[in-house]
Amino acid sequence: MSRKLIAANWKMNGSLAQCRELLPPLASVARDSLPLVVCPPACYLPTVAALAADSALQVGAQDAAQHDAGAYTGEMSAAMLRELGCQYAIVGHSERRHGLGETDDMVAAKAAACLRHGLTPIICIGETQAQYEAGQTADVVERQVKAVLARVVAEDLVKTVFAYEPVWAIGTGLAATPEQAQAVHASIRALLTQAGGGEAAKRVPVLYGGSVKAGNAASLFAMPDIDGALVGGASLVAAEMVAIYQAG
Ligand code: G3P
Repeated sequence: MSRKLIAANWKMNGSLAQCRELLPPLASVARDSLPLVVCPPACYLPTVAALAADSALQVGAQDAAQHDAGAYTGEMSAAMLRELGCQYAIVGHSERRHGLGETDDMVAAKAAACLRHGLTPIICIGETQAQYEAGQTADVVERQVKAVLARVVAEDLVKTVFAYEPVWAIGTGLAATPEQAQAVHASIRALLTQAGGGEAAKRVPVLYGGSVKAGNAASLFAMPDIDGALVGGASLVAAEMVAIYQAG
């Protein structure tokens, strides 16, 4: 049985007031048996970590540097993120891959840096609309997963989380159907099984992201290889995020 997990990616949204508004409802429902991870903009990590401190809530960053220290202006290292109270870090989000030019190998190096410092990377993969329409989904997902496998040793796979986020479903309201998502999740599970064996692969949460809402969460989570969600827009509405978590 794979570990399940629900994560909220606020992206570049929020405020100190919104941290104080969004965190208490999530803290009141979070339980250790189903990790609930809040990933605010980096500037709010100390505030969110403080608001989450006396609950089962966990904290994640939206990115982590691939290097441990040095002349990398604006970057934050995995060790720094740990000091700020993070347990997780999203790496390779499509908005960074396609918006900021992050390559497959940069994403893999970020995941390896997280593992070096005890952060759990939430490794985002997924095809663009054009790749989907060209029937390249399987090839893209395999290429992105294998780039990570080239830098993460098999025994560390169980310390990772993957998130399949079809770019065409992000922010569009057009989520993949549970069946569509399950097919890709099963292919990711197969790649992880090839690399680390079946028992290890089963323990790696593979999340779905892309227009997850309270109304579709349960049908997605009913799929055998969908282990949770990486939620964007809906995570900025406390009641919606609570409902998605409770469907988990
Ligand atoms: O990282 C999660 C995000 O990309 C999904 O966004 O708004 O489609 O839930 P959204």
